[in-house]
Amino acid sequence: MIVRRTLTAAALIAMMIVGTAHAGDMKNSVSHGEQIFNTQCIFCHGQGLGHPAWQMLALKKGKAKAYIVGRTDLTPLYIKHVVRNGLIEMPPFRVSQISNPDLDALAQYITHPDGAQSAK
Ligand code: HEC
Repeated sequence: MIVRRTLTAAALIAMMIVGTAHAGDMKNSVSHGEQIFNTQCIFCHGQGLGHPAWQMLALKKGKAKAYIVGRTDLTPLYIKHVVRNGLIEMPPFRVSQISNPDLDALAQYITHPDGAQSAK
């Protein structure tokens, strides 16, 4: 019954992997949000000259607020609103571009890049 034993072992390993993934949910959602930021937002919202959103926000709100990641005055709700509706020169993003769960992870990352839990 080697086959049966191998299957049992495989099932156990699979369960362990699923369990680990679940325990790491909070951290995963932050690194997932970071991934979305780095693919969808960074070319405008990266730090420094050459990033149009950074430059515009530096001009309007000052350099301390130019980089949106880690700002304490932005709420997840506001960020999600801006992403879905756009803001002046910033284009809106549809659900087909950034899904609702992805947008949650993104807003979580921007408000708490350190991985701390945020109130929605
Ligand atoms: C094509 C460039 C561009 C892209 C891509 C872009 N933005 Fe923006 N974003 C801007 C600009 C420009 C502004 C400043 C708008 C203004 O006030 O003039 C802005 C403003 C914002 C603000 C408002 C900041 C404040 O102080 O009120 C948030 C939040 C924001 N962007 C989030 C995002 C997120 C999240 C993404 C990725 C999904 C993203 N943006 C992608 C250009 C961009």
